Amino acid sequence: MDKTTVFTLQRMKEKGEKFCCITVYDATFARLVHAAGAETMLVGDSLGMVLQGHDSTVPVTLEHMAYHTACAARGNRGALLIADLPFMTYATAQQALTGATALMQAGAQVVKMEGGVWLSETIHMLVERGIPVCAHLGLTPQSVNVFGGFRVQGRTPKSAKSILADAAEIQDAGASLLVLECIPSALAADISEKLQIPVIGIGAGPGTDGQVLVLHDLLGLCESPPRFVEDFMTGRDSIPAALKAFVNAVKSGSYPGPRHCYTE
Ligand code: KIV
Repeated sequence: MDKTTVFTLQRMKEKGEKFCCITVYDATFARLVHAAGAETMLVGDSLGMVLQGHDSTVPVTLEHMAYHTACAARGNRGALLIADLPFMTYATAQQALTGATALMQAGAQVVKMEGGVWLSETIHMLVERGIPVCAHLGLTPQSVNVFGGFRVQGRTPKSAKSILADAAEIQDAGASLLVLECIPSALAADISEKLQIPVIGIGAGPGTDGQVLVLHDLLGLCESPPRFVEDFMTGRDSIPAALKAFVNAVKSGSYPGPRHCYTE
């Protein structure tokens, strides 16, 4: 498989081909995820929950992210490697530049940040300096304390309108990718259709251009999985087979199905 770039994903969107992303935190899983055919991998700050045992991503630091990004980059054989800027490392544009530089130097090819309109100057500044950006809207886990829990977003007309406006703004600011998490499927499909940049969904229904799942969730290791999670390990005899099953299910359109989706 050739190296995936943001342009590969752009072309896939234009052709209507679905692409996959799986979170990774180390070299071995980065190798396996690429071998399974996922075009992208995310060193997610979800590592705060699935590796470190916290109940949110808030305690994760830039040092943690740089360490796991470097580990994953060593095992990656050609997937586009996205890494999360963790909580409070991009509150100002200058902080974002420092943090994004550390992640890019650790091996990331794109940095991800949670937020919309308020990030547009920061996104513009990073992109102008050679750092591609993936924005993240909807249920943005670093704001769990504002939301009062991991709740589906975009269910009221006001909230849906605001997510749509944020999406348009981050595209105008120069973001290359957008993650939409836990929003009604119809809203995610509408945003994906309106934006030119590829949109990656998690708990956002089948209408996005790509799908992402947390590695531990798709391997059935989550204690109380949210409804959008499918355990791809059940019925399979190896981790590579489960990873491949996720990739195939996304590409064939069988995942996510109606039981994984949220409505208004
Ligand atoms: O940190 C993470 O794993 C993420 C995904 C849930 C998209 O941001």
